[in-house]
Amino acid sequence: MIHIDRHDPHAALAADPSVLEPLWLALFDHHVATGAAGMPTRPRAGSWQQRRGHYLDTIGGSPQASLWIATDDGAPVGYALSFEDTLDGERVEVLESLSLLPETRGNGLGGELVAVVEVAAQERGIARGVIDVMGGNDRALRFYHRAGYAPYSRTWMRSEFPTGAVPDLGDLAEATARFAEIGVRLEATGHPDDTWETAASVATLAVTGTVADEYSQPAWWAGFDAGLRALGDAGYWTVWCEHPEASAWVGTGCAERGFHHGMTRVTRELTAADVAVREYDRIRGE
Ligand SMILES: CC(C)(COP(=O)(O)OP(=O)(O)OC[C@H]1O[C@@H](n2cnc3c(N)ncnc32)[C@H](O)[C@@H]1OP(=O)(O)O)[C@@H](O)C(=O)NCCC(=O)NCCS
Repeated sequence: MIHIDRHDPHAALAADPSVLEPLWLALFDHHVATGAAGMPTRPRAGSWQQRRGHYLDTIGGSPQASLWIATDDGAPVGYALSFEDTLDGERVEVLESLSLLPETRGNGLGGELVAVVEVAAQERGIARGVIDVMGGNDRALRFYHRAGYAPYSRTWMRSEFPTGAVPDLGDLAEATARFAEIGVRLEATGHPDDTWETAASVATLAVTGTVADEYSQPAWWAGFDAGLRALGDAGYWTVWCEHPEASAWVGTGCAERGFHHGMTRVTRELTAADVAVREYDRIRGE
């Protein structure tokens, strides 16, 4: 008998061993099996500790984080972890992780988990859901499309481990100025990624929504390349670049520069009527 129950995410993360560890490892294995967006991943052993730290960082500032665990005759078979954030100035629910054990996939349980996350978010007045899907995880992307999610942005990633000594990280003023000239916002995460092998801090570029197609010109790319050089001079060898879905030309240029399609962000409006219908379908299906 399948059950989905709400849990306190902080308690589940504090427990050792955590009920989430094997469920996370199933997702890690799935990401590796789908090619991990073509980039080297961190070792599987120890990956739960990395992910646990990432969850604590992510939900630490969000009191509304929620965790749902699906069980089959009491045995955990899947989970959904989500938290509240803002996107374009709007409160959104980010579905940070959704995963089922392999033998439980393909029976509709994933859709149930998405629905409970959405209903709970709606009850808190949130009107938009957000999910990041790893590049190459095409089945999951199709699954989210069917649930009503549409592409919002793409993130391209480049992580080129230095051949010589690993450089110290320096000042980002020059790179920030170069990217600002072409409408790109530069920030640094201040920590390595928990899935991929990266520098101690990842440089993240956001191509702002106002950058129009006329910028897909040699001068724009000359500015982009100058920014990348300045990043390299500052010791940053891992760069993420996010662009709005409509600006596909940015992805084309990033691919030419050795970036991989790391992530697609999908979003969906959570309209009250829509959620009510799905809730009805869910109850009827029980
Ligand atoms: C994605 C997932 C949560 C969907 O839940 P589900 O209950 O299996 O989904 P449903 O039965 O409602 O729908 C079937 C879809 O599930 C996915 N799916 C089904 N069996 C699968 C399998 N053995 N392996 C991977 N994905 C599978 C596919 O997206 C499938 O759609 P498709 O037939 O178009 O390929 C679940 O399949 C899963 O855990 N997959 C691996 C981890 C993952 O990709 N998580 C999402 C990360 S963003």
